[in-house]
Amino acid sequence: TDDRISRIASTIRVIPDFPKPGILFQDITTLLLDPKAFKDTIDLFVERYKDKNINVIAGIEARGFIFGPPIALAIGAKFVPMRKPKKLPGEVISEEYSLEYGTDVMEMHVGAVQPGENAVIVDDLVATGGTLNAAIRLLGRLGVTVVECACVIELKELKGREKLGDNPLFVLVSET
Ligand code: PRP
Ligand code: MG
Repeated sequence: TDDRISRIASTIRVIPDFPKPGILFQDITTLLLDPKAFKDTIDLFVERYKDKNINVIAGIEARGFIFGPPIALAIGAKFVPMRKPKKLPGEVISEEYSLEYGTDVMEMHVGAVQPGENAVIVDDLVATGGTLNAAIRLLGRLGVTVVECACVIELKELKGREKLGDNPLFVLVSET
């Protein structure tokens, strides 16, 4: 295994009881403070996707907007934001997904992608998988092939991977 991974893992700060009692929050802002760890994070994704004919990096608001764009620039793909509702000004499609309490909605511009394009969905973390699942459904409705979902961190015990069906998930750091 790559020793860049253990360095990256060591820069992620874990904060107990945020935002609620009992939650162990995985804070990637401390990874961003370490230029080598941040660069290694981007490089590991770029090495994986650069020769895979990826046209689209779909980044999920908010933290997918940090990791997605540098990957898109490096591999020569377009960056497509997947946003919270009522933020995008053009024609959008929406998908609802469940959160711990209640539901949320994700939107994307219909004109951002073309049928037959190949996408990687980028976010900081997969927990229950509901967020990535909504992004997969949105891209699928527009005829885009989701090649893989890519996250920095996976919270394994929440089994988010099982919510992604046949769509592969690639993560750098697995927390058990
Ligand atoms: C967090 C995280 C992922 C999502 C994962 O985002 O950044 O996007 O939760 O959860 P899931 O796998 O259970 O769906 P959050 O919804 O807190 O919003 P933010 O990124 O805008 O802060
Ligand atoms: Mg998020």
